[in-house]
Amino acid sequence: MIPVAKPWIGAEEAEAAAAAVRSGWVAQGPRVAEFEASFAAQMGASHGVAVSSCTTALHLALHMCRVGPGDEVVVPSFSFIATANCAVYVGATPVFADVEVEDGNVSARTVEEALTERTRVVVVVDQGGMPADIAPIRELCEHRGIALVEDAACGAGSRYHGAPVGAGGSMVAWSFHPRKLLTTGEGGMLTTSVEEVAARARRLREHGMNISAAERHQSRQPVIERYLEVGFNYRMTDIQAAVGLVQLGKLDAMVRRRRELAARYQHMLADVPGLRTVRDPAWGESNFQSFWVELDASFPLDRGELLSALAEAGISARAGIMAAHRQPAYDGRPHGDLAVTERLTDSTVILPLFHSMTEGEQHQVVDVVRRAAGLRAA
Ligand SMILES: Cc1ncc(COP(=O)(O)O)c(C=O)c1O
Repeated sequence: MIPVAKPWIGAEEAEAAAAAVRSGWVAQGPRVAEFEASFAAQMGASHGVAVSSCTTALHLALHMCRVGPGDEVVVPSFSFIATANCAVYVGATPVFADVEVEDGNVSARTVEEALTERTRVVVVVDQGGMPADIAPIRELCEHRGIALVEDAACGAGSRYHGAPVGAGGSMVAWSFHPRKLLTTGEGGMLTTSVEEVAARARRLREHGMNISAAERHQSRQPVIERYLEVGFNYRMTDIQAAVGLVQLGKLDAMVRRRRELAARYQHMLADVPGLRTVRDPAWGESNFQSFWVELDASFPLDRGELLSALAEAGISARAGIMAAHRQPAYDGRPHGDLAVTERLTDSTVILPLFHSMTEGEQHQVVDVVRRAAGLRAA
């Protein structure tokens, strides 16, 4: 079976995890601190706060924006459901913005359509690793005093105008789930250019304590901690961070390989009628965390039939990115026109792409798609 995704992880990560276990420090400790500093530096951020997932990073970000009942948070519906859920966690109302057809991301145009006088936060996603065109959205938000949170769950290694996505952002959330490039099993990070945001996030992820457990244990004096506000347990473990440090060292190689494979897909599928492959936008470069193709009515099979043909050939592909507004969890919530979201969610297929994918495996995928379109093998 050719999987849709597979983490590039092995002996080096296993050894690093074992070393963390042998060190005796397995909860949040020195390896987490090292991973935070290294990840933040590589992403062009001043600070990194490691947490248990991107979902918890997003929750902390929204919590720090001090939004609640009656406030609106603009989010794309075309995203994993955690993006919308983070608004609900803080009691706010998620308002779905549509996306652009080319990159699957919200734009200044689609965000502006969703703004009201109650909008307090906009969450921008770099969907599937595609960098969103965030500068015009930032400008829109700054003029109106609206906070901007970047959900870069899929974005590690993608670039925006030559810089890492999220560089310089005040609240950027990352995921280290195995479906992403860099994985720690589960895990996430909040990066920021603002020292106070980092300090508060560090406190909030650890029950609101004024001193971290690691600092307390290392102190030669007895320390009695205080709880300055109601926080959460959103910590990452040193075992995860040890794996993350090894993975971070491989990130550039992962991005290079994924971009090569994406370029091969684009080339080998270029003449397929009724099929469009995802491409870099004018403003940046994708890490191709997800490689999706869009089918239109002139493609001979419908999406379900193509997925079945791939499955019969031993290839695991996926229906495209979900639309949160269509899920039972969001039933009955009013929303504006989400025509592009619905089009993309209904007509896209995510093809297998992973670091260790061979060219032979990629040919097998391409051949099924080409045969489905009545064409010869590439
Ligand atoms: C855009 C987006 N946001 C948030 C998440 C949630 O990430 P995690 O599983 O680390 O909580 C995901 C995961 O797929 C995602 O794709």
